[in-house]
Amino acid sequence: MFVLGIESSCDETGVALVETAGGGLPRLLAHALHSQIAMHQDYGGVVPELASRDHIRRVLPLARAVFDEAGRTLADVDVVAYTRGPGLAGALLVGAGVACALGAALSKPVLGIHHLEGHLLSPFLSADAPAFPFVALLVSGGHTQLMRVDGVGRYELLGETIDDAAGEAFDKSAKLMGLPYPGGPWLAKLAEGGDPAAFKLPRPLLHSGDLDFSFAGLKTAVLTQARKLGDELETRKADLAASTQAAIVEVLLKKSLAAIEQTGLDRLVVAGGVGANRSLRQQLNAACSRKGVRVHYPELHLCTDNGAMIAMAAAMRLQSGIEQASERYAFDVKPRWPLASLATS
Ligand code: KG4
Ligand code: ZN
Repeated sequence: MFVLGIESSCDETGVALVETAGGGLPRLLAHALHSQIAMHQDYGGVVPELASRDHIRRVLPLARAVFDEAGRTLADVDVVAYTRGPGLAGALLVGAGVACALGAALSKPVLGIHHLEGHLLSPFLSADAPAFPFVALLVSGGHTQLMRVDGVGRYELLGETIDDAAGEAFDKSAKLMGLPYPGGPWLAKLAEGGDPAAFKLPRPLLHSGDLDFSFAGLKTAVLTQARKLGDELETRKADLAASTQAAIVEVLLKKSLAAIEQTGLDRLVVAGGVGANRSLRQQLNAACSRKGVRVHYPELHLCTDNGAMIAMAAAMRLQSGIEQASERYAFDVKPRWPLASLATS
């Protein structure tokens, strides 16, 4: 079975083709991606209307590139999957509309996928795929969650952020330091040349005893520190970046370890854009190897938004039998959609 996946929830248009055969893991045949980062950079963040218009321009040419690379055609597609939410409503509608139009034209069923489930299952695309059950740390631009994952569709929320997401903490702090959008990778790069102990920044909820996160206070502390530095900020920027990253990484690390402890599981899956952060990976790897816990990540280029994770999640949902694709083509999108609401048990 061939599953075409379309991602358009935010500022990346992604298209991919996966193949399922027998009971094994679906295989990625090809994927293509267009990032709108350069287009939104002038505005310091994503402009939803511009995002939608660009998705419309990109999605079909990207699909053509995917079919060319895979040596397949539209006629081979058995199911068309798209990101149904969460995300920007107008942007989601582009992927959903195109997917349903393709499905209707081909007389093939469609399947709406939860964007975070895509991130969550993206490590199954890597050579070192995880096995169920595991604890998942989902760290993206809009979400920070710890989940217990017992199988496809079997998700239990263990904790989440009560305000900003980890990616937002990176992005907002980076903005305060005058770095381009999205700030996470820029801040991480700058941090490489700085001292993580240079500034004492808060580690919110570190000792709260639960698995929730809070990052809004950190951003305020970074702002206060930046103001205090005044003209000195320019020369101390790398230190401030390193200190900010250290605060975010420490909280993510300690809470992940607490989730492992609480569940008694011995596998951790890290997914979402912030999962690309090198310092987070180094520290998680070191701490987990001391505890005999295996850590799995998506391949670096599949950490941020892409179509492969949507095609993969669709293929795994279909394979596990928990959902069937539909030929109704009466689509909707869900800009807000809690992942735990997908739980089947
Ligand atoms: O998962 P994603 O591509 O989009 C959402 O679904 O939100 O995540 C994007 C987020 C942004 O906040 C970006 O700054 C952050 O991931 N990010 C990073 C790194 N690469 C991407 N944050 C820290 N270090 C990185 N290397
Ligand atoms: Zn994402």
